[in-house]
Amino acid sequence: MSIQKEIKRVTTHIMQEMKNNGEKISMLTGYDYSMARIIDDAGVDIILVGDSASNVMAGHETTLPITLDQMIYHASSVIRAVKRSFVVVDLPFGSYQGDSKKALNSAIRIMKESGAHGVKLEGGREVGESVKRILTAGIPVMGHLGLTPQSIYKFGTYSVRAKEEEEAQRLVEDSQYLESLGCFSIVLEKIPASLAEKVATTLTIPVIGIGAGGGVDGQVLVTHDLLGINKEFKPRFLRLYEDLYSRMFDAFSAYIRDVKSGEFPNKSEQY
Ligand code: KIV
Repeated sequence: MSIQKEIKRVTTHIMQEMKNNGEKISMLTGYDYSMARIIDDAGVDIILVGDSASNVMAGHETTLPITLDQMIYHASSVIRAVKRSFVVVDLPFGSYQGDSKKALNSAIRIMKESGAHGVKLEGGREVGESVKRILTAGIPVMGHLGLTPQSIYKFGTYSVRAKEEEEAQRLVEDSQYLESLGCFSIVLEKIPASLAEKVATTLTIPVIGIGAGGGVDGQVLVTHDLLGINKEFKPRFLRLYEDLYSRMFDAFSAYIRDVKSGEFPNKSEQY
């Protein structure tokens, strides 16, 4: 008999229970094996293999260039590290919009080739057919409303969304629509806190916020942002839990100094 304690995986059912019991859900992005291992060991409930990998990992200005193959590569690396967290993967731009068959194929490729537990996609009514078709395959779907970075060229800016009544009303309706289709959760990005709270209390499924205040059922941040690795990115909603840019910079500088001076390696560091 194994003496190892069995790790209970987070499931959509457990997340629903968390909402029902008023327990907040923690979610962070992960794109690679080493970081995902630490995030999972720390006990984060959901790891999002976000298309923000396009910015954070590849240095693109937007999330648009990342491909389905690249998302599958990141997701597979994360999955190999994870024992407990629920891993949800972004369907990248161009892999689901306007073609529900393509959406289903993209979602199936992600699930089959990476071993992920669910997919996320951006939009409301306009992606309804894609959501419905993916759900027919038994794949859990997470919605994403508010600031949807794949539509950045439509919005023109990364500023707060749904400040006006008409857009706020549409967002509420879209969130109800996504819940009625069977989405297991919704991310709300960069909208007024009062609106996000209204959505979270209206819906029965968990609502996870980023820049959407504290009245929702959980929070998500981009891991590299909260670690302070990207030192130029300091939006109001971001809490910096580390200054890793400075700490890593100092470590690299010390290494260079030691190599140049011959101080590294010393006697105990050689064979
Ligand atoms: O890609 C991503 O990192 C996201 C989060 C900002 C929610 O979608």
